[in-house]
This record gives sequence, C-alpha cells and structure tokens, in this order.
Amino acid sequence: MNAPAPNAKLADPIARRRTFAIISHPDAGKTTLTEKLLLFGGAIQLAGAVKAKRNAQQTRSDWMSIERERGISVVTSVMTFEYGDCVFNLLDTPGHEDFSEDTYRTLSAVDAAVMVIDAAKGIEARTRKLFEVCRLRDIPIVTFINKLDREGRDPFELLDEIEKTLALDTTPITWPISKGKTFAGTYCFATRSVRKLDKDDEELKVSGLDDPALTALLPPFEADQWREEAMLAEEGSKPFDLAAFREGHLTPVFFGSALRNFGVRDLIDAMAAYAPSPRGQQADKRLVEANEPKMTGFVFKIQANMDPNHRDRIAFMRICSGRLQRGMKAKLVRTGKTTALNAPQFFFARDRSIADEAFAGDVVGLPNHGLLRIGDTLTEGEDLVFRGVPSFAPEILRRIVIGDAMKAKKLREALTQLAEEGVVQLFIPHDGSGAIVGMVGALQLDVLATRLSSEYGLDTKYETSRFTLCRWISSEDKAVLKSFIESHGSAIADDIDGDPVFMAPSAYSLNYDAERNTKIVFSDVKDYQ
Ligand code: G4P
Repeated sequence: MNAPAPNAKLADPIARRRTFAIISHPDAGKTTLTEKLLLFGGAIQLAGAVKAKRNAQQTRSDWMSIERERGISVVTSVMTFEYGDCVFNLLDTPGHEDFSEDTYRTLSAVDAAVMVIDAAKGIEARTRKLFEVCRLRDIPIVTFINKLDREGRDPFELLDEIEKTLALDTTPITWPISKGKTFAGTYCFATRSVRKLDKDDEELKVSGLDDPALTALLPPFEADQWREEAMLAEEGSKPFDLAAFREGHLTPVFFGSALRNFGVRDLIDAMAAYAPSPRGQQADKRLVEANEPKMTGFVFKIQANMDPNHRDRIAFMRICSGRLQRGMKAKLVRTGKTTALNAPQFFFARDRSIADEAFAGDVVGLPNHGLLRIGDTLTEGEDLVFRGVPSFAPEILRRIVIGDAMKAKKLREALTQLAEEGVVQLFIPHDGSGAIVGMVGALQLDVLATRLSSEYGLDTKYETSRFTLCRWISSEDKAVLKSFIESHGSAIADDIDGDPVFMAPSAYSLNYDAERNTKIVFSDVKDYQ
C-alpha cells in the first residue's frame, strides 16, 4: 500500500519537534542535566544558584521516593519544553538500576538520545547496555561528558573509550579548557570561540588556539601542552558528518558540568541543530512518515493509579504521524473499536495540562480505564500496527500465592491489570495450577508485592516455581504446535494475550526440547501487537 500524500501544513510543527531520552549510568548526572535542560526551556523557574541547589535536591528526592514506591518514574515519564524554535519532548528512562522492559519501550519512542558520561568514570555498564538498545534502532546520539569541574580522566582517553567500546566514531565539537579545580570553560572548534565557566551565555570569539585570551584562562604551566593537545584533537578527529550522526555511526561530543550549568547550552543547541525531527516509524504494513496528514500513534507505557484516590490509568502514546486533536475519534487497531480522545494530556516538569492538539513526535497521556495496553496502535481508521515495542522472556519466574482463598479472583484481576501495565508478565498454566509471574529484574518482585498490597489490599507470597525460564512458542505448522502443546501440557502456559509459552526448569532442558522439536520456534522476545 502507498503512503498517503504528506500534508504541507503539518510539516512545520513537526519539523520543530525533538523527541529524545537521556541514557547514562546512575550518578553520571542525568537528573541534574534534566533539570538544567528544563531550566533552559523555562519549564521550571528557579532564581539563583542557592535556590537551584535546594530545589535540585528536593526534586531529586521527590522523584526518588516515588520511584522507590513504584519502581518506575512517574512525574518524569515525559517532559515537554520549548527552547529557541524547537519543542523538546524528553522521555525519561527508568531511574533504577534494574534493566527493565520499560527502558526498551521508552527508547522505541524517541528519535535521538543524549549520552551522559561521568568524566571520571567513562563508559559504565548501564550506559553501554542502553547504548546497545539505541544502536538496534540506529538512534543518533549526542554525547555530554559531565563533571569536568572535578578531577576526571584525560579527554583523549574518554573519546578513545567511546570509539573502542561502543564502536562509535566521535567528533569533539568543544574541548575543555583545563579540568578539575582549574576547569575554565570550553573552546569550540567550529566557531573558534570560548565559553567561560561562569559566563556560559557569552560566546567569546578568538583568533584560534594561540589567542592570548585563551592562554589567560589556562594555568601558566599548562598552556603549551593544552594548545598542542587541542590542536591534535582538532586535526586528529573526524569532521562532523551529519549523515553519519543521523545513521547512528558518529557522535558529536560536548564537555561540561551539569551541576555548574555549563555546556548545557551548547548541548541543547546541538540537539536543535543536529537531532532529527520525528522520523518515519515502521509499521507492519508500511513505513509511516511523520508528515502524513492522518494521526497514528502507539502506546509505549501505561501508568496506573497515578492518583491513588482515583483508579486512573494513563497510557503514554507517541504520535507517529499527523495531528491529534482533542475530542477526535481514533481506532484502536487491536480491537477494531473506535474511541474518543477526549482528554489527552501534556506533561511539563511536574504539571500536566489538557492538550488541545499535538503533533507527530509528541507524547500525550491518554486517561483510560483499562482500554489501552502497551503496544497498542491508534489510527484514524487504517489497519496498521507499529512494531518494536518488545517484551522479553523473563529471567525470574515465581508462583504467586495468597493466604485468603476468597481473594483469588481479585488477585487474578490485579495481576492482569499490572501485566497490562507492563509491571509483570503473567502466565496461566494449562494444567490449572496457580498463576506464574515473570520479570526481567529482581527489583520488580518487590515492586509487584508492594503494589498488590498498597493498591489492591492483597498480601501475597512468592513460591519458587519448578520452572526457571520460558519461551514463546510458535510454528508455521499449526498441527505441530497443537501436538507439542498437548504433549507438554504441564509445561505450557498462556500469556496475557493468550499466546502459548513453554516453561523449562533449566537451559539444558529447554535445549533438549528445542533440539527435538525443530519445527517449533522458541522465542525469547515477543513484539506487542
Ligand atoms: P543521576 O540522575 O544520573 O543518577 O545523577 P544525578 O544528577 O543525581 O547526579 C549524581 C551526583 O553527581 C549528584 O551528587 C550531583 O550533584 C552530582 N553531579 C551531577 N553533575 C555534576 C557535575 O557536573 N559536577 C559535579 N561535581 N557533580 C555533579 P549528590 O547526590 O548531590 O551528592 P553525591 O552523590 O556527590 O553524594
């Protein structure tokens, strides 16, 4: 099928959108940087550094306490702010260390990412993992090397580490003028200008690396060596190549200090200038371009009970094309039914507001009572399904039990809701034994138990299951699949969509069955449909 003709009127607001996430290892400075980005966008108003510091800590602790309770970011799921000519949608990747599906799903909804690296630590485990997810989708990455105001590693060493461990070309756009206690600012190779640490808003033009204004910023004994190194950095690096960046092969690198609000301006300017506007999104039947006239979108996150007094559920939808208007009707492709989008919401730092209209690249919250699920596609009528919101085979399987048998039905309902929200995966064994829950990270065990107790009043226990792993099973030959399911009854369960999974006590036994049943596909990842 051919794509409908792009609508010229829509092109402008869409070209202004930049939808991105920050990827980093805990403590590298993501929260601090987020806050500074929001400051630039005027999304939060802070007067003076002291207040900034106090608010900074409060904001952080607020977020963390909610995250602790919920195991997921709440307020920070998405934040919209304007800066210059652009509208930025910053999507938060979950703050806890456990690597969860939430992270994958969030990254399926962005067009670019900022990678924050602690200058003293370099590439850390979580950054690397998140980077790999970005690479799967060729997401362009802008790098921010943070904490230059502290003693850190040599900039060349850091660039080298990015190149070697991530197989990603680097182009330093700025270069730090000294570091640690004597960190004085950055020099920009492209514009031959200097930003001083405490005057980030001024761009001081210089004649080049020999300019006396630069020498004056450096400790006397460092100046010659610094100049040599900066020259080497400029001449030795690959020139910035927009196409290579957009394809995810090259990252422009900026140096700064989020805490000192330094380097953030260059970073956000780079996002405006280099990061792509909303990209086309692959659906099952065709590529959907952002500037097509009709609205399409997919749900990548569900947040239930945001307000504990009202059982509200917010589905976060990334708009892939067209314009969403408040009150419009949209088709939920999974069920074929039409629903009215009466109260779409935008999120700004801590506030939300009703969105009268939103464009491709935007993320809106859609309040609903269980109608929408993760992976759902909404359109103006076309039958297409966006791909790439995956579910991964859990690494932990537990049987969940409740003391009070009278509450078994309520438990099943609660688990279904939480599974729809993506907190847990739910497997109902064919042999009629109790539900099995699956998760990717151990933290989810606590999150699930806490939420069952606090939101549903259910006190539950986990029992180890004899199964330790599971795989979705399918086959081109329906009869083969049916016979496999029948002959392995006690090891088969249905997931929340009714799709069959095969559960095994060990990798060894899984391999044993896989080798003997070559017509069955055992898959450890499932695309939400
Ligand atoms: P995260 O969200 O990536 O986990 O990091 P976050 O912003 O919370 O920052 C982690 C710590 O690093 C914070 O320290 C923060 O103030 C500090 N930090 C962030 N950016 C910079 C920077 O540019 N320079 C310096 N020197 N520090 C920075 P903290 O929690 O207040 O205290 P502590 O962790 O040092 O005890």
